[in-house]
Amino acid sequence: MKPMVVAVDVHKHFGSLHALDGISIEVPHGEVLCIIGPSGSGKSTFLRCINQLERIDGGAIWVDGELAGYRRSGESLLPLSDKEIARQRLASGMVFQRFNLFAHLTALQNIIEGPVTVRKRPKAQAVDEAMALLERVGLADKRDAYPSELSGGQQQRVAIARALAMKPKLMLFDEPTSALDPELVGEVLAVIRDLATSGMTMIVVTHELGFAREVSSRVVFMDLGRIIEEGPPQEILVRPEQARTRDFIAAVLS
Ligand SMILES: Nc1ncnc2c1ncn2[C@@H]1O[C@H](COP(=O)(O)OP(=O)(O)OP(=O)(O)O)[C@@H](O)[C@H]1O
Ligand SMILES: [Mg+2]
Repeated sequence: MKPMVVAVDVHKHFGSLHALDGISIEVPHGEVLCIIGPSGSGKSTFLRCINQLERIDGGAIWVDGELAGYRRSGESLLPLSDKEIARQRLASGMVFQRFNLFAHLTALQNIIEGPVTVRKRPKAQAVDEAMALLERVGLADKRDAYPSELSGGQQQRVAIARALAMKPKLMLFDEPTSALDPELVGEVLAVIRDLATSGMTMIVVTHELGFAREVSSRVVFMDLGRIIEEGPPQEILVRPEQARTRDFIAAVLS
């Protein structure tokens, strides 16, 4: 089977800043990959490139076998239309540090919005599926609550349900717990752990090293737009080879 994500020599500049400096990685189906690294190392940018919130300026990314953002025409690559890119973007669900729920919609309405307007699902079916997702994230009783009536952890669980409602092939999490009060982190990690055991392919940017160690099949350490080191969590998190990885882990744990 083709890997879910293939990145080959991906580059991204912001002006003179080389935010991604030749990222190459393959993520097989069902893998839970954790990305760690210092602030500014390019972790979010890499997720945003996979999800095509950013356009890359060198290299290539395939998601589930489809070249992201371009189509081949003979020897050349032509950029896809906005409509085609919007279609490709549905392959991945993204959950951000800030929950990004629609403030004027209830939990249930937040979840069915995409399926009804984008996926054109019949509303009754979307509601049934949304209720099953709310159940799954432990919030069935909050279906009619507005985001302002939910805790940060609850809002983040609704955000995860909302992403799942679009039936993505791949989930991208960008520091999903770092904006939460410590006592709320566990409930969100539990939902992500449950997703991991269900076989969802996931790339999770996180500073929760204990969680990374427990849930991920592989950990990538990034610095300055590059992958410095990668491997099984017990190697990267416990006995990293590179001094930069060791220093980073020591700083997070201190
Ligand atoms: N839209 C943008 N315009 C200009 N520079 C940007 C933009 N987005 C990111 N950058 C820069 O690119 C670099 C990588 O940023 P990125 O957000 O990917 O880092 P990160 O590893 O996610 O950091 P953090 O842990 O703080 O979230 C940083 O130097 C950042 O300032
Ligand atoms: Mg980031």
